[in-house]
Amino acid sequence: MATVELKLPHHQYRIEIEPGLLDKLGDRVKAVAPHARAGLFVDAAILQSHGVAAAASLRKAGYDPLVHGVPSGEGNKHLGTVSELYGLLVDRKLERKSPLISLGGGVMGDTIGFVASTYLRGVPFIQCPTTLLSMVDASVGGKVGVNLPQGKNLVGSFYQPMLVAIDTDTLRTLPPRELRCGLAECVKHGVIRDPSLFAWISENLDAILALDSGALVELVRWNVQIKANVVMADEKETGERAHLNYGHTFAHAIEALQEYGAEMSYHHGEAVSLGMVAATRLAMSHGLCDGSLLDKLIALLDRIGLPTKANDLPDTAKLMDSMMLDKKVASGRIRFVLPTRMGEVQIINNVPDALVAKAWDTLRA
Ligand SMILES: NC(=O)c1ccc[n+]([C@@H]2O[C@H](COP(=O)([O-])OP(=O)(O)OC[C@H]3O[C@@H](n4cnc5c(N)ncnc54)[C@H](O)[C@@H]3O)[C@@H](O)[C@H]2O)c1
Ligand SMILES: [Zn+2]
Repeated sequence: MATVELKLPHHQYRIEIEPGLLDKLGDRVKAVAPHARAGLFVDAAILQSHGVAAAASLRKAGYDPLVHGVPSGEGNKHLGTVSELYGLLVDRKLERKSPLISLGGGVMGDTIGFVASTYLRGVPFIQCPTTLLSMVDASVGGKVGVNLPQGKNLVGSFYQPMLVAIDTDTLRTLPPRELRCGLAECVKHGVIRDPSLFAWISENLDAILALDSGALVELVRWNVQIKANVVMADEKETGERAHLNYGHTFAHAIEALQEYGAEMSYHHGEAVSLGMVAATRLAMSHGLCDGSLLDKLIALLDRIGLPTKANDLPDTAKLMDSMMLDKKVASGRIRFVLPTRMGEVQIINNVPDALVAKAWDTLRA
């Protein structure tokens, strides 16, 4: 088993990574949140494939669990779902000390984490992420919340779990496209913090894509450690946690236009892939880095099967407008996270619009 410790001034917990860990979930939960009852909330798409085993393990450890399938997908990450779940928790008499466990991807983690942070003013929360993206990104760092009709993640809080239990075997049922999307965030971690991670992903890509158990545990451990380090240095995103937004300013602009009906269908990791390419070109044209980083980045993203160019993007003017509407735009200036060399980024807020427009244009070339 691999373990990453997340130590914050007010709270400390473990992120455990092991193939087959769901079969031992009950004992792991009991070690941090012993109680007669527990709530197990499972992405409905994996209720049979993974939920049943997790529920059995909880029962074996002596819990009387409420087991509930939650409809999948970003479209269900809203206050209506949260409100339904509060009702269920009250009806089924879950108490102040009953742990709530989320089993699923980032949608489940964010939603159930928000429920746990607010039900009875906060109950123990345990995350079992089942997508690569949620293992290496969404489940680490304590951001929980849901979407509003006006935009994504507009309601939420910081709420750290008691435990994150990652069973890498759950990735065996994940659609390959979702695995590739998770890899986009891993490549991001390499570019912003760790050249040796970037090289390791490149060397071990075949084993990763073939779901080799050892490669998956190492991939997840390494990426969780990087994200944990960033969170430990800046839990509430007042400084360097913003480095995790590398590629995301561009990605969010693409995703927002998609929501408003633009004719493209990029998943988050694919939009991030395009965004990292655009941000790196922007860094080059702003004189921050040379072309070798871009070449390495494109070569790896291509091998993974992530997009590095896109001919179906809307007009650059529309994309520029969409960027300005991002909630992270501070007083009219976009803050870009731009690489200076492999493993290092800087936050730059005085990039001329013309260079940003050019970065969009070159994605189409
Ligand atoms: N809290 C944070 O810090 C943070 C960070 C990044 C992203 N997020 C959030 O995470 C969400 C995206 O997470 P995601 O990519 O995991 O999406 P997701 O939870 O929607 O999962 C993606 C798809 O995979 C399916 N699935 C999940 N696990 C599976 C498995 N093991 N086998 C087969 N299918 C499986 C789901 O049903 C879904 O269709 C977004 O809502 C985003 O805002 C949060
Ligand atoms: Zn992301």
